[in-house]
Amino acid sequence: RAAAKVNLTFEILGTRSDGYHEVETLLHSVDLFDHITLEISPSQKSKIILRNYESTVPGHFPMDNTNLVSKTIRKYFDAFTNADSQMFEVVADVEKAIPIEAGLAGGSADAAATLVAMNLAFDNKFSEDRLLRLAAELGADVPFALAGGLCLGTERGDKLESTDLFQSLHMVLVKPKNLSISTPLMFKTYDQSRGIEDVKAGSKSRAALAALSTGDLELFYKNLSNDFESVYFEIHPEMAELRSKLLEFGCWTVNLTGSGPTMYGTVPNLNSANRVARALVAERMNNPGANYFKHGSLDIHVVRS
Ligand code: C5P
Repeated sequence: RAAAKVNLTFEILGTRSDGYHEVETLLHSVDLFDHITLEISPSQKSKIILRNYESTVPGHFPMDNTNLVSKTIRKYFDAFTNADSQMFEVVADVEKAIPIEAGLAGGSADAAATLVAMNLAFDNKFSEDRLLRLAAELGADVPFALAGGLCLGTERGDKLESTDLFQSLHMVLVKPKNLSISTPLMFKTYDQSRGIEDVKAGSKSRAALAALSTGDLELFYKNLSNDFESVYFEIHPEMAELRSKLLEFGCWTVNLTGSGPTMYGTVPNLNSANRVARALVAERMNNPGANYFKHGSLDIHVVRS
C-alpha cells in the first residue's frame, strides 16, 4: 500500500551549487493509496514484468522499464552481493488511485511500497537504513514515502527529520483533470520572478512544527503555505478563483502541494470535507463556464493525514 503526501509548507530558500534549490518543507502522508502486488519466483533469467495496471485517475503511467516500480525492483536486485547468484522473475500489478504528476508524490509512494514489498519477500535482507539509502537514489521524495507520518524536509527537501508529532487533518484534495505542471519550470519561473540568490532562513515550516508541539492549532494553520503559489496563481489565475471558491465553501485554508497542480483545503471534520466535495461537484453543474473548469472536471479526494 503506497500512501500519497501533501506538503503542508513549502519554502524555497535559495539556489544550490548542484543546480537544485534549498527548501524547507513539512510533509504529511495522507490516506489515499496506490496498491502494488508483486509475485516473485526463482527463474533461469532475471525478469521484471509489469502485468496489470488499473487506474481511477487520468495520466500517463509507462508500462516499461522506465517505470519507477521496475526501476525499484532492479535497484533492489542490484544491491545484492555477488554471492546471491539466484535469479528471479518478478511480476508486478499496480492499482493507481493517487493522481499522477500532481504534487502528491504518487510515483515515489509506489517506489517506497515496492522497496518494502521486496524486502518482505527477501526476509528483510536490507536494514531500514539501507532501504532509506536505496530510496534516496530512486528520487528525492522516496525517503519520505518510506518514512511516512509528519517529517520536516530540508536541503533539497530530502534530508528528513521525523517527528513524533502527528496531526489528524481532514482535507479535500482538488486537481483539475487536464492540468499538469513541470516542477523544473516552476522553480525557474520562481527564480526569474523573485530573483533569489542567497539562501535565506525558513520560518513557516519550523513555526508550524513548534505550534503543533505546543498545541496551538490556530498558529499551525496560519503557517500552512507554499512559496510556489505566487507563481502558480500568476500563471493560472483561474486556480486562484478556485481557491476562493474552496474558502467560500468552508475550507479553513487552501494551499498548493509541492509544485502543484493539486491544491488541498483543510476542514474541521469528515462531514465538512464531504460537504465541500459535494459543493464542488454541484458547481460543475451550476457554473460549468467557470474559468477553473477549463482544464476539465475536477478530480476530488476527501482524505485524512
Ligand atoms: O524531485 P523531483 O525529481 O521532482 O525534481 C524535479 C526537478 O525539480 C529537479 O530536476 C530540479 O530541476 C528541480 N528541483 C530543484 N530543487 C529541489 C527539488 C527539485 O531545483 N529541491
